[in-house]
Amino acid sequence: MKTTAPQEAFLQAFHAEHPAVTAEAFAGGRAPDGRSSYEILCDQVSGSTRVLDLGCGDGLLLELLARTPGRQLAGLDLSSHSLALARSRPALSEARLEAGRAQELPFPDNGFDACVSHMALMLMGEIEHVAAEVARVLAPGGVLACVLGGGAVGGEAYERFLTLLRHTMEAAPAAQRIPALGDRRTRSREGLDEVLGPAGFAAVDWETVPIDLSGPVEQVWAAVSGLYDLGPLDRTTVEGLRKAFFAEVRDMTTSDGRVPCAFRIRVATTRLA
Ligand SMILES: C[S@@+](CC[C@H](N)C(=O)[O-])C[C@H]1O[C@@H](n2cnc3c(N)ncnc32)[C@H](O)[C@@H]1O
Repeated sequence: MKTTAPQEAFLQAFHAEHPAVTAEAFAGGRAPDGRSSYEILCDQVSGSTRVLDLGCGDGLLLELLARTPGRQLAGLDLSSHSLALARSRPALSEARLEAGRAQELPFPDNGFDACVSHMALMLMGEIEHVAAEVARVLAPGGVLACVLGGGAVGGEAYERFLTLLRHTMEAAPAAQRIPALGDRRTRSREGLDEVLGPAGFAAVDWETVPIDLSGPVEQVWAAVSGLYDLGPLDRTTVEGLRKAFFAEVRDMTTSDGRVPCAFRIRVATTRLA
């Protein structure tokens, strides 16, 4: 059995119930320059024609990429439920959308000019296999551009939510805790270099960007409660967390009813050397 089997089974089960959760939570978020995290990633590969989206989910990023005429697009994801949503997008009728593992890509060598991955690389185990596979399917000089989660900005609702969540998880029975996901090295520039360098990639260009998710409390709750950790929690526990969150952010709600909320993304970009 693969060492990543429990993690991947968890991700598949979670996305069977929540096939578009990431796009629903984060597509409305904005960087200081007005772009969403998906648009930022799209711009990182603006010169590339053949683009693969690793962990493409419901296909939102691919749809943005498809706005550039002449692109040849492919997407891969573990979740057949998320892929079904991607396949239903008219803009992706020509895209090659495959169910599978990033560790064993079903694509030929040198077939892509760029590989993008939005909020997915940091969930993947056996990360050296992923790096080697991406290097294999990219043409020489090919670009790898990823958006990775970078935690709370601080002093806003996401930070308070994470504190409440930590207390909730400490009190939750073991059966309601999720397996450890991904490889910690994807959370730092040095760690990512350690993973990608041996596969032939140059040192990563690493940028931290705050993404604003502020809005009415229900909207902010919908965004933050999409985290994987909530998946196995029972209804009563989630409802308790929701109530505690609403109470916790009351003092920071502005007079026009907005709750300040933000998270950081890391934009990591490199090329095959
Ligand atoms: C947080 S979601 C992001 C989805 C999409 N990229 C987005 O941002 O809207 C992570 C996605 O990566 C996929 N994923 C995680 N590990 C994977 C793996 N080893 N191979 C393929 N897909 C994987 C999950 O199934 C999930 O759809």
